[in-house]
Amino acid sequence: MFKVNNNYAELPESYLFSEVAHRLAAYREANPDREVIRMDIGDVSIPLGDVVVKALCKASEDMGTRTGFHGYGPEQGYLFLREKIARFDYKEHGIHTIGAEDIFVSDGAKSDLGNFVDMFGDDIRIAVTDPGYPVYVDTNVLSGRGGKLVDGKWSGLTYLECKPENGFKPQVPTDGVDVIYLCFPNNPTGVALNRSELKEWVDYAIEHGSLLIFDSAYEAYISSEDVPHSIYEIEEAEKVAVEIRSYSKTAGFTGVRCGYTVVPRALEFKSDSGNQISLNKMWNRRQSTKFNGVGYIVQKAAEALYTAEGREMIRENIAYYKKNAAMLREALEKKSWMVIGGIDSPYVWAFPESNGVYSEGASLTSWQLFDKLLSELNISSTPGVGFGECAEGWVRFTGFNTYENTLKAIERIESGILK
Ligand code: MLT
Repeated sequence: MFKVNNNYAELPESYLFSEVAHRLAAYREANPDREVIRMDIGDVSIPLGDVVVKALCKASEDMGTRTGFHGYGPEQGYLFLREKIARFDYKEHGIHTIGAEDIFVSDGAKSDLGNFVDMFGDDIRIAVTDPGYPVYVDTNVLSGRGGKLVDGKWSGLTYLECKPENGFKPQVPTDGVDVIYLCFPNNPTGVALNRSELKEWVDYAIEHGSLLIFDSAYEAYISSEDVPHSIYEIEEAEKVAVEIRSYSKTAGFTGVRCGYTVVPRALEFKSDSGNQISLNKMWNRRQSTKFNGVGYIVQKAAEALYTAEGREMIRENIAYYKKNAAMLREALEKKSWMVIGGIDSPYVWAFPESNGVYSEGASLTSWQLFDKLLSELNISSTPGVGFGECAEGWVRFTGFNTYENTLKAIERIESGILK
């Protein structure tokens, strides 16, 4: 008899952002005359730049010619793109430990984050930040490492609590864990780690033989001086860390789908039989078995991002979204909300004053706050608790909507009854 993967039954029925979208659709159906402003999922609003559109058109035309046609491509990604990544994202930033052979082009950060669990043994200890991007937890639960869900936490996972007391920065564990998911600048809190804070994690991983999965999807939003743009700016990080990046939030590729994962050749672990195993080789084997690579047309569009015009477009996009985030941050602070993030990040993480003293338990749960913001101000947000139990009572707003809609949302916040 066919048996299903029972871990699916263990997970809550829908993924966080699907649940938000579902509730939003129901609200819109019941209130067709109300204009809801979406400040929930981190989806971009600026259309693709000319440089990208031209590259997409040109590559599409090439595909219709005998000489320019491309069939199956390399599963790792075309060298023309991997070489640009190595040069512009690493070497030009003083990182000489990462080359094209360490880079794997992907269809975005979420897939690679989810797929990377294929590399893990069954009985390893996984640490995640609470709050954190839900993909880390859900994909480990699906592959059987969750244990039981008790009071919103999986017994099989180690949670690194992030709260106002520690500035939403996780402390290194006191015991040994095998894999640690870190995302900085953080989704959802927007908090970034400086050089010495990041070094603590690299030192921990070296000491304990752990692997760091460094989700760097928001790297382009960093403007603080002392915040590294890559984990490989920290000495020896190439021996313990995988870095995952995406063009979604930088170049507006949420609908184009492209990113990359760095799995350095220097990343080696011992197998059960005592042999040195290269994670780069394992990932290469995984990708060539289960993935046919990203389309040529899309990779040509990604390559165009490394031209002067492409880089300028990214700078403008980031500046636009950061301005939105800064305005949101200021408006919420004026309303006496507790506000985090919005500086090195497009996300603003917030807790209303009227929600009480967070450490004594919020008077409204995150989902109640979501409902209130939706019904009273017609603003949709992302409930903090969807990222982890520590975030009950918090909500996340994004700076990814248009400037005009962000202004409208701010007016509603300013005039609204929510304090
Ligand atoms: C978010 O809103 O947290 C992200 O955009 C969702 C995603 O990237 O999957």
